[in-house]
Amino acid sequence: MCGIVGYVGPREATPILVDGLRRLEYRGYDSAGIAVLGADGLVRVTRSEGKLGNLTARIEAEPPSGRTGIGHTRWATHGRPSEENAHPHRDASGRVVVIHNGIIENFLPLKRELLARGVPFTSETDSEVIAQAIGAACADAPEAPFGEVVRTVLSRMTGMYAVVVLSADEPGVLYVAKNGPPIVLGLGADENLVASDATALLSHTRDLVFLEDGDFVRLTAASVAVTALDGAPRSRPARRVPWDAVAAEKGGYPHFMAKEIAEQPTVVVETVGHKLSLETGHFSEDAMGVSPKLLADVDRVVVVACGTSWHAGLVGKFLLEEVARVPVEVDYSAEFRYRKNLVGPRTLVVGISQSGETADTVAALTDAKRAGAPTVGVVNVPGSAIARLVDGVLATHAGPEIGVASTKAFTTQLVALALLAYYAREARGLGRLEPGDPFLEGLAHLPVALQQALALEPAIEKLSRALAHARDVLYLGRGAHYPVALEGALKLKEISYIHAEGYPAGEMKHGPIALIDGELPVVALAPRDALYDKVASNLREVKAREGRLVALVSPGDEDVSTFADETLVVPEIHPALQPVVSVVPLQLLAYHVARRRGCDVDQPRNLAKSVTVE
Ligand code: G6P
Repeated sequence: MCGIVGYVGPREATPILVDGLRRLEYRGYDSAGIAVLGADGLVRVTRSEGKLGNLTARIEAEPPSGRTGIGHTRWATHGRPSEENAHPHRDASGRVVVIHNGIIENFLPLKRELLARGVPFTSETDSEVIAQAIGAACADAPEAPFGEVVRTVLSRMTGMYAVVVLSADEPGVLYVAKNGPPIVLGLGADENLVASDATALLSHTRDLVFLEDGDFVRLTAASVAVTALDGAPRSRPARRVPWDAVAAEKGGYPHFMAKEIAEQPTVVVETVGHKLSLETGHFSEDAMGVSPKLLADVDRVVVVACGTSWHAGLVGKFLLEEVARVPVEVDYSAEFRYRKNLVGPRTLVVGISQSGETADTVAALTDAKRAGAPTVGVVNVPGSAIARLVDGVLATHAGPEIGVASTKAFTTQLVALALLAYYAREARGLGRLEPGDPFLEGLAHLPVALQQALALEPAIEKLSRALAHARDVLYLGRGAHYPVALEGALKLKEISYIHAEGYPAGEMKHGPIALIDGELPVVALAPRDALYDKVASNLREVKAREGRLVALVSPGDEDVSTFADETLVVPEIHPALQPVVSVVPLQLLAYHVARRRGCDVDQPRNLAKSVTVE
């Protein structure tokens, strides 16, 4: 994942930047770079594809000297990993440099505008548009203060960003802005630093300022001036953090699970960026892990997985059948391996696994291969057992997931499977993604929708009070939201130890309805979709029996929200991506209920992150 570090002060910047990048290495990246402003008034940019060693070799050959600088590790999203796409990005004059984490949603229209006035772009990234737009605005208003120009340009950008900007014309100053991805300032003696993660700062200072969304900072060696993007002053007092190194990796969150839930807007972008161009609708065949020819030829798909990954498989079934019209079966790995599995060369077997090490899934895929079936692994850990075993890998790019209860790995699995569905649709001659397709627009909007879902946290925290004392909880959903209900129930069960069951809402009347009374909370997914009216009737059956109904509805809902006891309004998005957004409130609910009950959220009893035994 991308990492940011910046320095302004009396010391040589280069070693500090390199040390910071090294401390961010655990996040994973594919290229890196630094920019240092020299005493001669020139910015020197050194970038390299691949490991940090490649960059440091270049730096050692020609060490840039200067006391203000920025550095970045990139995990490719828009555009492949390459030196040109690595940060820092420059404007056309080479005097403005920018590093960026996140996604600029409206980069295409902005880029078109700049191209029309002859600005030469050198990368495929959305990030370059920030540097180029600032450079162009400076050229238009040479007298305007640089900070004002940066603020104005950033207020035209939609999407998510943590950005650091350096100008050769304003030595000793960094501009920092946040809207989405985390960014922290480190306050030192006569020097200041900035980083995407506190880990990169703790060897210099423990006095940190955690920025909030909408903050805009002018940072010098001696001062920190925080305002809103509209210029209104904001107060952000520093906090002295007593963390040890491991805790610091939580980046200020109390638990890894909380951090990982919060990372979802970023990691879904990373998962998409490797596989599909949102601009053209072209898939990268290599990154999809399977050839179009094979997808055109198969008669059916069999998914094997365990736990949360199995739930992702159920959503995948819904999408592959709906979008690509290919029949799909989803099996528990542990069941598949001991059944007459009847797969062969015309069945694509898809193994889904965050760790890539789950013994049952390894065994199921081994059996499938032995039977002559082509195999694909939807895997988060590169080089894992499953990644090595399968014929092709459809990678999720969630980054290391430490919390045992899977969150960001699940949402990236859903995104990877949605991409597979559209890729298979094209391979099977059912239509291709043209620029501007609603699915592509949905993907572009996904990080913002996830951010909005995360903003429900205070309401969910409040709701967790009522649920913390429940003995059982029933989760209901239909269609692609039935597996989301299963996942919501599993999350609660795993970390709070409250018994929870997920059920298809239409099936409730055939059994679980007997449990419903004033004591049983029912959490229902009722997004505005083709099954909405059916779900609404099922939920009326709950209310008629005095069940305590918590409903997740779409904005503007006019039916279920009128009779539910509690309502959470979940952002609406393209139907193929709605489960990705809808599961977030359920993750947060499980998290807050577990916290309230004093449970060990990251390491729940009896569970393991990677189950390498049968
Ligand atoms: C364990 C974990 C679950 C996970 C399952 C499958 O049971 O506790 O969170 O969903 O394994 O793991 P995998 O790595 O194959 O996705």
